[in-house]
Amino acid sequence: MGKTAKSWKTRLMHSDAKVPTGFRSLATPVYRGSTTLFPDAASVNDTWDQYEAGYTYGLYGTPTTLELAARICELENGYRTFITPGGQNAIALVNLAFLKSGDHILVPENIYSPNRKLVYHVLRRLGVEATFYDPLIGGGIKDLLRGNTRLVWTESPGSITMEVQDIPAIAAAAHARGRDEQRVLVVLDNTWAAGIYFDAFAHGVDITLQALTKYVGGHSDLLLGSVTVKEEALYQQLGVTHQVLGCAASPDDCSLALRGMKTMAVRLKHIEKSALDIARWLAQRAEIELVLHPALESCPGHEFWARDSEGSTGVFSIVFRRDVKKEQVLRFVDELELFEIGYSWAGVTSLAVAYDFAGSKGRPDYGHRIVRFSIGLEDTKDLIADLERCLEGLRK
Ligand SMILES: Cc1ncc(COP(=O)(O)O)c(C=O)c1O
Repeated sequence: MGKTAKSWKTRLMHSDAKVPTGFRSLATPVYRGSTTLFPDAASVNDTWDQYEAGYTYGLYGTPTTLELAARICELENGYRTFITPGGQNAIALVNLAFLKSGDHILVPENIYSPNRKLVYHVLRRLGVEATFYDPLIGGGIKDLLRGNTRLVWTESPGSITMEVQDIPAIAAAAHARGRDEQRVLVVLDNTWAAGIYFDAFAHGVDITLQALTKYVGGHSDLLLGSVTVKEEALYQQLGVTHQVLGCAASPDDCSLALRGMKTMAVRLKHIEKSALDIARWLAQRAEIELVLHPALESCPGHEFWARDSEGSTGVFSIVFRRDVKKEQVLRFVDELELFEIGYSWAGVTSLAVAYDFAGSKGRPDYGHRIVRFSIGLEDTKDLIADLERCLEGLRK
């Protein structure tokens, strides 16, 4: 009992009710909280680094958020990880943490399109210049580095057209510029590899990010991102920006992501095999010119995937033969019964989306003929039967 008498109204906040202690569960508890309590008046402090200061404010992490961060960091062999409210927020955070007016960045042409829009709509306005480069440039990137280049973005395989990048060669060229003021950071969007099938830090990357929305969440019901760094200096610089941009991630979503992680190995095992079986089956079909799956030789940059990766996931694209018209591609997608149509891949339900790159500078000449799949957990035979029925339908 406390020293002050309490009415029932006060007891609503300051209760003396007791429950048994010692409950143990296999699930990480969901710690929700904006206000974080300090033990005494002198301890109050607004430090973002909860590892250094202990918990100071829910925005910088609750035990649920920080557990997810620590586990992603462990899987990626990083130094520290930040959780963000979505993958795109992770992308924005990296740019805003490391760039200033007058800087220059290099961005692959096949980058996730909101990342490209960030360049056009925000970074240029803030005085940051960008050069878009051929994702297959490899070590040739050295010719694009300028005195004011600060970041080289990479995404491998790249969005939709799936080119695999020679990350070690790009990193070697960027790092040849030295440290301190001259330092060029290499950032990788490692979402396709789920942060595990490509060991980014061992291949020279400085900062990785993932849309945890995808394979970590795994069930199309949450939005989260992560940024992982390889050293303390980068952690400090990111931490301040993460704080002032207010990148609050929901502990409930983090708890779903922690649950998603427990089944990720079995989901990925099924998805990898199913996607490969389907990709190989599609490669035999006369209607299709190209299958863009990193593990198939037909995918540009396949040799880098084979050299550097430990596995593949479930997202790949096909390019129809040149005589297939746009209406036929759209009808093909519409008629699929087991593939839903929608963004945000990597869930348990298979997806198909048609894209049109006609007139897009910097993308291969696939025009309206490209369809991207995300393979889920359905029976592979059923998915192939669905695809076969709709490919046959193209002839009608
Ligand atoms: C490669 C890649 N990176 C980042 C993102 C952004 O993730 P989010 O939807 O969580 O913002 C996506 C989403 O589709 C993506 O495909």
